[in-house]
Amino acid sequence: MLRRLRTQFGIVADELAEMGARDERYTVFDNVRDYRKRDEDFDLDNSEAMLLELLGQLRTQRDELDAVETFARVVAAQQQLNNQELLELSRIVGDEARHVLTGELALANLGHDPRAIPVGVIGSLLRRELSPIDGLLQISMIGEAGNVAEILQSASLANSLGHPRIGIQLQLIHRDEIFHLKCGHKILRRIKSIPQGAGFAQVALDITNEYLVSHGQPKLSARQAARILGE
Ligand SMILES: [Fe+2]
Ligand SMILES: [Fe+2]
Repeated sequence: MLRRLRTQFGIVADELAEMGARDERYTVFDNVRDYRKRDEDFDLDNSEAMLLELLGQLRTQRDELDAVETFARVVAAQQQLNNQELLELSRIVGDEARHVLTGELALANLGHDPRAIPVGVIGSLLRRELSPIDGLLQISMIGEAGNVAEILQSASLANSLGHPRIGIQLQLIHRDEIFHLKCGHKILRRIKSIPQGAGFAQVALDITNEYLVSHGQPKLSARQAARILGE
């Protein structure tokens, strides 16, 4: 699979295949993540659905090192980027690092030890097998697009659960993600060529399902991918 992924930037994908090191104090899991179903990770007195939903969103944010890596790869393979795109992507890398910190601190503020909550790494595992621009395609069309509406819903949820500071932080993250989507799509439209008749969203779903099937997971519909792999 990796052999055919010579990138438009002239970098062979397997030269970029390794993920950055994870903090070894955390355990990781690599199956398709659906944090909302992982209530066994929490020692909740009463695992209320609303709280679990909010915790799921905070985990999604905390685990966005995969987004940092995805955008950093595009920056590293910068030959086709213009200066404006390079600056925008650099800002996005910084934003994603802030989202990690926001998630981590919010989990702690809600009384959990973040290090006791396993970290999902499916985003990085999936995209490390792709060229940087295909990684951008996958995160723009499925990862970020899949979760952007839910971030706002989670902000409202945080407010209703009595955590207005987390609500504000999630609103700020939502604003960032709108910017990321706009930049990502702009770069894709300029750089990425796709097979005739296919749209970016379909190509991103095909790439995602190819990865899942080759790792023994079932194929996902666009809606399922958005829910399970949204970030
Ligand atoms: Fe993010
Ligand atoms: Fe983002």
